[in-house]
Amino acid sequence: MPRAIAPIPLRTHVDRTRAALGRRLFFDTRLSGDGSIFCARCHDPTHAYTDGRRRSLSLVPEASARQFNVPTLLNVSLNFAFGWRAEHETLEAQARSVIENPEHMGADWPGALHRLRADPALVAEFESAFADGLTATNVTRAIAEFERSLITPNAALDRYLRGDRNALSEEALCGYRTFHRYGCVSCHQGVNVGGNLLARFGIFGSPYEGRETLVPTDLGRYSLTGRENDRRVFRVPSLRNVALTAPYFHDGSARTLEDAVRIVARYQLGREVPEKDMDCLVAFLHSLTAPQPESPR
Ligand code: HEC
Ligand code: HEC
Repeated sequence: MPRAIAPIPLRTHVDRTRAALGRRLFFDTRLSGDGSIFCARCHDPTHAYTDGRRRSLSLVPEASARQFNVPTLLNVSLNFAFGWRAEHETLEAQARSVIENPEHMGADWPGALHRLRADPALVAEFESAFADGLTATNVTRAIAEFERSLITPNAALDRYLRGDRNALSEEALCGYRTFHRYGCVSCHQGVNVGGNLLARFGIFGSPYEGRETLVPTDLGRYSLTGRENDRRVFRVPSLRNVALTAPYFHDGSARTLEDAVRIVARYQLGREVPEKDMDCLVAFLHSLTAPQPESPR
């Protein structure tokens, strides 16, 4: 049987010089309009590149209720498109958009480049990393290269899939089988155990039943395209390192993995999960937690 879930390759090619430069920019407030925020403020490396909040911070206080939950950047480059709505096709386009977005970093490029160009050491680093030196495009290319370095190939599940029969606990192995038997794998599959398909949130009824506080982003791709077929359609999230990235869902509405699994089983698969299966599934999800990547310096 061909495997629906594949291990992450142990080696990823990244340009170390560009990635190290991107890492520096990831912590740099000069990329924000008012100097108050930087990527790692929301994608905190000590928190699996998330922030632990239900919905993201926003520079615009009135917009905070409609923010998405902050996705992890671990293994982000293995997703087919970026953002909960699969809005951006490349990491470079995503970085450009977040820097310009008034609700996230609120910078304008002339201003950001002016601030960066005042730093001769940084300018020199850009010149050694890129033939055309410090440009807006190269800022996004360096950041994207850093993001491509954030790969975690050594979860227990990867070791198991590469042939180490003892890598999974009995409970996690039971969960791996349950994940297939239930059909979770029809959506969460491939090398990222998700991140390669779109799906409607709520196939068996609406998970929003009885909720009064829907915001446009809760409607998924519909909020981008206005097409009826896109209502509540999201990118199926990757489940890698999911035990580290609570709370769950695009709106952070599930506090624990158990809560999240109960909801997806009910609304994506139309079934309730007995306790024994729940324990196995949660153990399986924990087997997707991997040693964190070394940062390029
Ligand atoms: C104010 C908080 C905040 C800041 C600052 C921020 N992000 Fe994000 N980031 C988010 C949120 C919220 C999302 C989800 C947006 C969406 O799905 O449309 C996101 C999504 C992403 C994604 C897509 C992840 C995926 O799974 O597809 C990437 C990549 C990313 N951010 C990189 C960055 C980079 C690089 C920076 C700095 C240049 C940055 N972010 C700054 C909150 C933030
Ligand atoms: C029909 C497709 C589909 C199936 C089947 C499915 N899921 Fe999902 N899953 C999704 C989508 C879409 C989301 C994101 C929903 C949202 O955030 O609005 C999601 C979210 C999740 C999350 C939260 C991830 C996060 O980072 O927030 C977990 C955990 C999860 N699913 C586990 C499972 C498990 C376990 C099963 C089987 C019991 C399962 N899923 C079956 C589509 C599916």
